[in-house]
Amino acid sequence: MLSKTYETIRVETEQSILWIILNRPHKLNALNEAMLGELADILDIAENDSSIKCIIITGEGNKAFSAGADITMFSKATPVKAEELSKLGQKVFSKIEKMSKPVIASINGYALGGGLELALACDFRIAAENAELGSPEISLGIIPAWGGTQRLVRIVGLAKAKEIIMLGNRVKAEEALKMGLVNKMVPYDKLKDETGELAKKLSAGPPIALKYAKQALNFGTQVPLEVGLRLESSLMGLTFSTEDFKEGVEAFTSKRKAEFKGK
Ligand code: COA
Repeated sequence: MLSKTYETIRVETEQSILWIILNRPHKLNALNEAMLGELADILDIAENDSSIKCIIITGEGNKAFSAGADITMFSKATPVKAEELSKLGQKVFSKIEKMSKPVIASINGYALGGGLELALACDFRIAAENAELGSPEISLGIIPAWGGTQRLVRIVGLAKAKEIIMLGNRVKAEEALKMGLVNKMVPYDKLKDETGELAKKLSAGPPIALKYAKQALNFGTQVPLEVGLRLESSLMGLTFSTEDFKEGVEAFTSKRKAEFKGK
């Protein structure tokens, strides 16, 4: 059972699921350097802990997932420091994307700026009905720089990404669902249970095949089709070396539920 105490996040484990709760509710869970560092630390621990099969990131309180980068960091930042902050956020969010385990964003309110960018790096996004997503950076005279300009377009396409980033339009959960920005919208009081259900489903899946599927999908969006197809074949070949593959086929033929071991 994974337990560690942090200053800006809280962690809870529920069987094979790790909940990471952004915990600065008085500042709408704005992301500062300490929070980015603590997120990186717990993600590294989770990556290396085979008892953790799925990770959920959410925000403390009923108002915000995260209202973005802590704007107070910007007031005294030089251009050099701003570039460093951009790279730091990009590094932590890329870590999420590269995790071998599925990561779900459970969006319990505002997901703005860096909060949206954090959610974009996750594999699944479940939003409560009260959630609002957006990139207000343009109103501050800056641009999203924790991966937002790159990941949003890959998820919703160029037209919608330009509306959100260049106009700074905030999108309510229902609209976010329509444009594929979130996978599912649920009533606020069902968010925890619904996210937990999805995490349980993913946790029961074959961990190695899930890891390869995630790799092929994420990597495939960044390379020419031929390269992606080559990777797909290699990873598919590798799945044939796993005990989980044998178990999956055996369970199918004997009409029972497969029990995957991640081997
Ligand atoms: N960075 C630092 N502090 C933030 C913050 C951020 N991104 N977002 C909210 N806060 C703080 C507020 O300053 C306020 O602190 P205070 O009580 O000490 O004054 C507290 O969180 C509550 O926010 P408040 O603005 O009073 O809540 P609201 O319900 O009136 O408005 C938002 C909610 C999300 C619309 C508004 O907080 C907002 O626009 N935040 C900034 C979003 C943003 O631009 N993010 C991108 C940053 S690059």
